[in-house]
Amino acid sequence: MSETNGLNRRDFVKTASTAAAASLMLGGVARAAAPRAKRRYAIVGTGERASGMWGRDLVQKYSDVLEFVGLCDINPKRAAAARELIGVDCPTYSNFDEMMDRSKPDLLMVTTVDFFHRDYIVKGLERGVNVMTEKPMTTHEDKCQDILDAEKKAGKNIVVTFNYRYAPKHQKIKEILMSGEIGRVLSVDFSWYLDTSHGADYFRRWHRLKRGGGSLWVHKATHHFDLINWWLGADPVEVSAQGSLEVYGSAGPFRHTNCRPCPHKAKCRFYYDMTKDAKRMKLYASAEDVDGYHRDGCVFREDVDIYDSMSAVVQYSNGVHMSYSLNAHMPIEGYRLAFNGEFGRLEVRDYERQPWAVAEESEMYVIKSGKTGAAGTRTKVVVPDVRGGHGGGDDVMRDIIFRDRQVPEHMRLPGSRAGAMSCLTGIAARKSVEEKKPIKISDLVKL
Ligand SMILES: NC(=O)c1ccc[n+]([C@@H]2O[C@H](COP(=O)([O-])OP(=O)(O)OC[C@H]3O[C@@H](n4cnc5c(N)ncnc54)[C@H](O)[C@@H]3O)[C@@H](O)[C@H]2O)c1
Repeated sequence: MSETNGLNRRDFVKTASTAAAASLMLGGVARAAAPRAKRRYAIVGTGERASGMWGRDLVQKYSDVLEFVGLCDINPKRAAAARELIGVDCPTYSNFDEMMDRSKPDLLMVTTVDFFHRDYIVKGLERGVNVMTEKPMTTHEDKCQDILDAEKKAGKNIVVTFNYRYAPKHQKIKEILMSGEIGRVLSVDFSWYLDTSHGADYFRRWHRLKRGGGSLWVHKATHHFDLINWWLGADPVEVSAQGSLEVYGSAGPFRHTNCRPCPHKAKCRFYYDMTKDAKRMKLYASAEDVDGYHRDGCVFREDVDIYDSMSAVVQYSNGVHMSYSLNAHMPIEGYRLAFNGEFGRLEVRDYERQPWAVAEESEMYVIKSGKTGAAGTRTKVVVPDVRGGHGGGDDVMRDIIFRDRQVPEHMRLPGSRAGAMSCLTGIAARKSVEEKKPIKISDLVKL
């Protein structure tokens, strides 16, 4: 296998230089040449992610290079609560244009409900501001096209914060594939399991609607599809998928608006007592009179229009095909993954939570075929055990963004192409379920 793992050299250089440009855009050359002024940083969508990973954590670790200049949310009470939680005194806004006019950020973080990412990414680019967005880059193909067009027009590069890539265990997988140890990868088996705690949580919130997160095919699986695109160094070409709603939504036995006033709480296996979480009470309960948004919404509401049981077959530009599944009501949380190569197989089991006690939550093996009639070999890979959000990936990624941490080419920041290719895989899967036919990525957007 070539070092670029299935990607031809010309494509690799193109992809790598795009990623490098994204890295430089956020922190490299331009800043190094100028006096070391703090970056003027603004956030739109001040919920949990903005308050923590892109808020309080940044104040604690990057205050020497970053100045918070504005926080914007359609819910002004939540923006005010977020400001307190983050621990800054910058102005809060409920009007995005007003924030941009007054606070004049040079870096905008987009952490709204996924469905609205497009609007703020495009507006930010049109104002010539550097934009970072949480995943998924967007939820629908027309929005994806708008972002790609706006980026091209603005001559800027956006960054899509795919933190999973930066988990040391995921870097290890990339290194093994690049080393050529199992030969050319021919197919992939990938199953992701969300348990009845994390998985159920998506059905409590805006994620339960396609108009919120584009379904878990997009909101959640964009992470997994990005990992696969990056690991394989390939683009998705066509997706065939099946999906159904089996446990949550209208499949449930009873329902109410949300958990706190629910008459069924004693018998409901998904009852969630948000009053025990002071941060969520502040961020959501204290602001729900403004927008009626319940963070502890009932998982059995009739309006749930996404799937909790999903399977897909994805074909890639380098001939690899993947069978993928995502289930959101499992007794375990984590994934099983195997790359089937010419000479062997890389096998990974990574469980974050499971109901039994095991010494190791992660196992990784390189298994090689023997000659005919002879046994092969199985070599255990030492999985880096790093603490911190998303397997230690959050800290690595933030250091690349805010400290200009120098990294090898394959670790450069993901840009709009990665954002598009991963969300389009999910969009194609969703459309394949809806339209009952395979969907080609090239029919969704013009790159
Ligand atoms: N990378 C990861 O691992 C990871 C983890 C969690 C969340 N996320 C992403 O972060 C983003 C935010 O998620 P969250 O968990 O903080 O959700 P959240 O519900 O806590 O916050 C979303 C905020 O957006 C606001 N909002 C909604 N519509 C808006 C609009 N039109 N304009 C301005 N603000 C609007 C809401 O009022 C809310 O405060 C999502 O895109 C999500 O996919 C990523």
